[in-house]
Amino acid sequence: MRRYIVQTLRVELGDRSYSIVISGDMLGGVGPALADAGYQGRVALVSNPTVFDLYGAGVMASLRSSGLEPFRILIPDGEEYKSLASAESIYGELLRARLDRKSLLVALGGGVIGDITGFAASTYMRGIDFIQVPTTLLAQVDSSVGGKTGVNHPLGKNMIGTFWQPRLVWIDIGTLRTLPRREFLSGLAEVIKYGVIWDRDFFECLGRETDKVLGLDAATLGRVIRRSCEIKADVVSKDERESGLRAILNYGHTIGHAIETATGYTEYLHGEAIAIGMVAAARLAGVLGLIDGRQTEKIEALIRNYGLPTTIPGPVGFDEILSCMQLDKKTVSGTLTFVLPEKIGVVRLEKGVRPEDIRKAVDLSR
Ligand SMILES: NC(=O)c1ccc[n+]([C@@H]2O[C@H](COP(=O)([O-])OP(=O)(O)OC[C@H]3O[C@@H](n4cnc5c(N)ncnc54)[C@H](O)[C@@H]3O)[C@@H](O)[C@H]2O)c1
Repeated sequence: MRRYIVQTLRVELGDRSYSIVISGDMLGGVGPALADAGYQGRVALVSNPTVFDLYGAGVMASLRSSGLEPFRILIPDGEEYKSLASAESIYGELLRARLDRKSLLVALGGGVIGDITGFAASTYMRGIDFIQVPTTLLAQVDSSVGGKTGVNHPLGKNMIGTFWQPRLVWIDIGTLRTLPRREFLSGLAEVIKYGVIWDRDFFECLGRETDKVLGLDAATLGRVIRRSCEIKADVVSKDERESGLRAILNYGHTIGHAIETATGYTEYLHGEAIAIGMVAAARLAGVLGLIDGRQTEKIEALIRNYGLPTTIPGPVGFDEILSCMQLDKKTVSGTLTFVLPEKIGVVRLEKGVRPEDIRKAVDLSR
């Protein structure tokens, strides 16, 4: 992949606005960008051993050569380490290194590292700056943008968290070459989501460019990641704290989360469960008479063509799905709310969906 900067976008949030830089094979640009922004002194690079072995040395060298004094904090690889215990170990390292309120954290990794680093940054000394250097597709198009941080609790995923925006998101598309294929495909579910909820042309483009995207064509990926970030930035700028519009980013997540919970988080990657949830939600829109059947078929076909699952696994019963949905933190006072497509590019929030209608959609999705 040749070295280039595809584009810089802005997330407009007043004095918390920040840039998203999309580059190819340019991790070495992180240090100069931070020096330009006025950062000095000690910087903690938070990562896991998998990602650090691949990219840590390059980012550390870039920080050092820009006059910063980086040190690394590694937490073990895995969702189970997105925990308060790991956050506590990060605080310990920061305190021992005497990081102060002007210090900076750099998150180098996927969504797990980004979420926990953001959480640690938002709580350490009542909040210090951090930047995101996302290395999975999911993190590049979704979790690194928008400022949701958090850790899991034994009683629920992402139950402890904050809204805390990064100061910069530095995306290097080149890092996707080492990402396991299944993780890459899982990230594409969120990309397809943006097409369905916001931009019909983007959805159509994903249909035309399937082979190039799946073949990791750099220019195509650059465009796809840029458009995904633009849409997320647009939505977040209008509703940072999810009091309304931002909820549309949860398309596919109501049933998707229930499937993840019901299968103990071992069967499906997040994006795979969301893919199934997006098809089921489109079917639910059909059951409620909100969408034309041909549009539902197009959504399902695109998801399938990207190698993602589309059907709810047989062993997961409807009652289990329903009870998982009722326990979800996005379910308010037991009222089931869904993001449902009316047509590709347009969704609506549907409150108080009846369990019997959900059951019909679930049956259609087997
Ligand atoms: N904050 C948000 O808005 C938001 C949104 C969506 C998801 N999330 C969170 O994101 C997390 C999932 O993120 P994820 O899918 O990135 O998973 P992840 O962070 O666990 O990364 C997946 C795997 O890929 C490895 N990896 C990362 N980059 C690599 C690379 N370039 N080459 C080789 N291996 C690499 C990781 O070490 C890990 O084993 C979940 O905890 C989820 O709750 C947060």
